[in-house]
Amino acid sequence: MNNQELLETARTAAERAYVPYSNLRVGAAVVGETGTVYTGANVENAAYPSTLCAEAVAIGHAVASGERKLDSLAVISLDLPAIFPCGQCRQRMSEFNVDQVIMEGPDGDPDSHTLEELLPGRFTDWRQT
Ligand code: THU
Repeated sequence: MNNQELLETARTAAERAYVPYSNLRVGAAVVGETGTVYTGANVENAAYPSTLCAEAVAIGHAVASGERKLDSLAVISLDLPAIFPCGQCRQRMSEFNVDQVIMEGPDGDPDSHTLEELLPGRFTDWRQT
């Protein structure tokens, strides 16, 4: 699946967002090392901090399906022209080796950023150092 298709898959997932509080529909799609694509949408909660980001849901979906290494992850909002992943989600991506993050650029075309660009000097498993 190319970046454009991955972004479109994330866009479809965003339609299923549960966002009664922010009305900000976000969708994500991540490719596992097996090539399977997993989607997620944000799931909000009356206790606001209990909200799940779209990326967290997609990563959880992939990992709970048996994936341990992930490739590209696309994230998009139906309500904002460009959305960048939050800090916690960047750390979640780091855990499972996401390398490219695909977002909608200003022209509507997919823009790709490396995780190294988005989360420089990140914390990794200290036992491996
Ligand atoms: N949100 C995401 O789903 N992903 C992000 O990377 C940033 C924020 C959601 C969480 C909440 O439902 C809404 O956007 C507003 O913060």
